[in-house]
Amino acid sequence: MSHDYVPVQWNRKKVIYDISLWGGIALYIACFMIVSSILLAGDEALSPMILLIRAFATCAFLMLTIILCIGPMARLDERFLPLLYNRRHFGVSMFVVALTHAILATIWYHGFGVVSPIESIFASPGDLTSISNIPFQPFGAGALLVLLLLASTSHDFWNANLGPLLWKSLHMGVYLAYGLLIVHVAAGAMQEDNTGMLPLLVLGSVVLVGSLHLTAALKVRSIDSGIAAGEWVDVGTWQEIENDRAIVVTIGAAERIAVYRYDESRIAAVGNVCKHQAGPLGEGKVIDGCITCPWHGFQYRPEDGCSPPPFTEKIPTYRARVEGDRILIHPTPLPDGTPRDVAMIGGYS
Ligand code: HEM
Ligand code: FES
Repeated sequence: MSHDYVPVQWNRKKVIYDISLWGGIALYIACFMIVSSILLAGDEALSPMILLIRAFATCAFLMLTIILCIGPMARLDERFLPLLYNRRHFGVSMFVVALTHAILATIWYHGFGVVSPIESIFASPGDLTSISNIPFQPFGAGALLVLLLLASTSHDFWNANLGPLLWKSLHMGVYLAYGLLIVHVAAGAMQEDNTGMLPLLVLGSVVLVGSLHLTAALKVRSIDSGIAAGEWVDVGTWQEIENDRAIVVTIGAAERIAVYRYDESRIAAVGNVCKHQAGPLGEGKVIDGCITCPWHGFQYRPEDGCSPPPFTEKIPTYRARVEGDRILIHPTPLPDGTPRDVAMIGGYS
C-alpha cells in the first residue's frame, strides 16, 4: 500500500466532480425534454411524463456506456486514469438515474391497474417467440436489480470484507446488467419507439464498448502454443519495455504476469492483480523503487512482491532470466511475497 494512498472519502475534488456530474445530468435531461418537445410536435407530441421517462432512460444508458468505456480507455491511454478514480461515484449516480426512470415508468405504465405494479411489469404482454415481441420490461427490472446490488456494495467496506477477487467478480455483473439492458432497449425500441434513434443508440454503444475492450485486450501478450509444464518461456526483448514500466503477458491458462523493467537494467516479474481491488499492476509504473498500482497507488517491491512497511500486502512473484536481448519467465507463480533473484540485463549501457 502507498503512503500517499487516501481511502475513498469526501474531499474538495470529489465534491466538484459530483456537482459537475449532476449538473451534466440535469443539463442532459433539460436538453432532451426541450429538443424532443420541438421535434415531436402536433400529432406526434408526447406527454411530458413520457418524455421524462425517456430522458432518464437514455441518460442512464449513456452513462453506463461511458462507465464501460473508462476501463479500456485508461488501459490504452493513461490520461484517462483520473476518470477511473471516480468511476464508483459515476456508477452510483447512474444507478440513481436508472432508478428514477424505472420508478416513473412503473408508476406511469403499471400504477393504475388492478394488479400490483411489480406483478404488472412481469405480466407485460409479449412472448419469446419473436425478437420484436419480447416482453422487454422484465429485462429492465433484472438489470435494475443487478445495478442495485453493485451500487449497494460499491463502498470500500464491501471490498475489504468480501476480498478483492470476490468483489471484482461481483462487480463484473455490470456486463450482465448491460446485456439485459441491450435486450430491454432493443426490444422496447421495436415496440415503442418511432424515431429510429434508439437502434442507433444501442448499436453505437455496443460497437464502442466492444471495440475498446477488444483493442485493450490485444495489448496483453498471449503466449500459449506448445508450452510444456515447468518450461521457461520467452516473452520478448527487454528493449520492448520502457524503463519503470511493464508489459503484461499471459502464458497458457496461467494468471496474467506483469514483467517490469526498472533501474534501467533490472527485470522483475510479478502477478498482475493488485491486492486492493484487483487493479492491473502491469499498467502502473515504478515510483520510489516500488511497483505502483495505477488505480489507487498501492505499492509492492519488485524484489519480493511485498508492500513496503508498515503495509502488509503481498503479491505472487515469478522467476525471470535475461539471455542476450530476450526475457525468459518461469510461469509457475511463487507464493505471495517470495523474494527471488531479479534478472539483470547483461552488458546494459
Ligand atoms: C423496473 C425496471 C424498469 C422498467 C419497468 C422499465 C420500463 C421501461 C418502459 C415502459 C420503457 C418504454 C418507455 C417509452 O417508450 O415511453 C422503457 C424504455 C427504456 N428503458 Fe427502461 N425500465 C426499467 C429499467 C431500466 C433500466 C435499469 C435502464 C438503464 C439504463 C433502462 C433504460 C431504458 C432505455 C434506454 C429505454 C428507451 C427509452 C426511450 O424510449 O427513449 N430501463 N423502460
Ligand atoms: S490500488 Fe486499488 S486496485 Fe490497486
